[in-house]
Amino acid sequence: MDYQSEILRRRTFAIISHPDAGKTTLTEKLLLYGGAIHVAGAVKSNKIRKTATSDWMEIEKQRGISVATSVMGFDYTPTYHNDKHQTYHINILDTPGHQDFAEDTFRTLTAVDSVIIVIDSAKGVETQTRRLMQVCRMRKTPVMVFINKMDREGKDPFDLLDEVEKELGIHVRPLSWPINMGQRFKGVYNIFQSTLDLYTPDKTHVSESLKFEDVNDPEITRLVGEQDATKLREDLEMIEGVYNPFSKDDYLAGDLAPVFFGSALNTFGVKELLECFVHIAPSPRPIEAVERSVNPMEEHFTGFCFKIHANMDPNHRSCIAFFKICSGRFERNVYYKHVREDKQMRFSAPTCFMAQKKETVDEAFAGDIVGLPDTGNFKIGDTLTAGENLHFKGLPSFSPEMFKYIENADPMKQKQLDKGVHQLMDEGVAQLFINQMNGRKIIGTVGQLQFEVIQYRLEHEYQAKCRWEPLQMYKACWIAPDAPDSKEALDEIETFKKRKAQYMATDKDGRDVFMADSGYVLNMAQNDYKHIHFHFTSEF
Ligand code: G4P
Repeated sequence: MDYQSEILRRRTFAIISHPDAGKTTLTEKLLLYGGAIHVAGAVKSNKIRKTATSDWMEIEKQRGISVATSVMGFDYTPTYHNDKHQTYHINILDTPGHQDFAEDTFRTLTAVDSVIIVIDSAKGVETQTRRLMQVCRMRKTPVMVFINKMDREGKDPFDLLDEVEKELGIHVRPLSWPINMGQRFKGVYNIFQSTLDLYTPDKTHVSESLKFEDVNDPEITRLVGEQDATKLREDLEMIEGVYNPFSKDDYLAGDLAPVFFGSALNTFGVKELLECFVHIAPSPRPIEAVERSVNPMEEHFTGFCFKIHANMDPNHRSCIAFFKICSGRFERNVYYKHVREDKQMRFSAPTCFMAQKKETVDEAFAGDIVGLPDTGNFKIGDTLTAGENLHFKGLPSFSPEMFKYIENADPMKQKQLDKGVHQLMDEGVAQLFINQMNGRKIIGTVGQLQFEVIQYRLEHEYQAKCRWEPLQMYKACWIAPDAPDSKEALDEIETFKKRKAQYMATDKDGRDVFMADSGYVLNMAQNDYKHIHFHFTSEF
């Protein structure tokens, strides 16, 4: 297959949801369809669900939440689409659902071409989903919605659609429709295919779809009963009346989300989602660099690092830098340019991820994620190219919301602590600021849990001990002149830095950061210093 066909058959996406909506369960069922795994958690024991898929980290097992973002690839050939002979290569990027790891998730979203949002039918749109959707909207990422847990009593499907539309700020179009729910759940009618899937509560077995030319077919009445058949027909009529016909272009533009209903736990409605997904979801899309827009079909390889994972295997103290390939073909043992360092590098053991296994590969294509074993060469946001000087955009640091001083709790292990902190920051676990007055190190995170993760990992991966000391802080913001060379602005910044010396810090790149201790102080500063811009992400 030529490299362009390889790129066209790739589908790289993330599943996002509020914790407990069913993201892990859905991911696992997708892997099951792809033949990437053979046992669903429900078959043997639920433990498999927690350990088999994506948790490389001990801490994740302890807490039962996904801390690390991992990648799962598999091939899938649709069974009942026109493109039966096409085999798609799917890369699922798993994202931690817990809000304390939101930044990790935000960065992962820069590496995907589309997103599936999982919503719990009883809970509707929840906070974390809303926040993640903001990022998708910003980036115009195409999204699909899977409304899960239809085997339980939940909200009315029409109300759910309204809620998604209103809360997530996107138009919706149902492509499948549930027949009842909870105890009375009978199945879903697939509007996209005109097929009916009858539900049998079974966690291991998948029911066959029945194909109909017309929803008025009397066979449907026989199968689901008079009352439910009538309701289904009325509902479908209403859908046709209320919602515009599905438009793939609107979906690809990020303006319209197709909606599917099902029950991931019961492997129900998942196949419909997957088949429609491979059919309509975008192959790798162009990515913006500072210099120009990079098309995935370009011959020359380019890619950027969106994640660094230290010590994936505790027995080998190695890091893996995750690169999203933006264009062309990546090859093993070929020299590429590390743009920030201006040096040539080649990789003898690049890995791709097939389900929970990682294996060495000779080549990978735009859309794929490759893991490059690293010994501290890479930072998040770094670009590799076949020679061109390119800098990909869109990997900002966000203003942290919690701050603590980090202190060494074991004087014999200062070196280990420094190394650990350094690597964890390069991984993007949190952000390090150095106070300009007293030189103390401040760690900024988006949630309390990250402090615990840092402490745990320092201890287990670096044999270093740290202690946290409280710091009352409202927000850290990057300061910059309103116009690059304005003398007035530069003078103002100097004055500001002198006046606020005890609140000034530098970030990892040596940029000035103002650590405001209250919203009031920040407001005052914004009012008093008109020529200074206060930024809440590092990219401006
Ligand atoms: P997450 O990754 O989004 O956090 O959610 P996860 O898949 O872990 O699912 C959260 C809980 O919801 C799990 O139950 C899971 O079994 C359940 N669940 C997922 N899909 C469905 C569904 O379609 N129907 C029903 N009824 N439940 C579903 P748990 O009790 O937290 O875990 P476990 O004890 O089952 O392992």
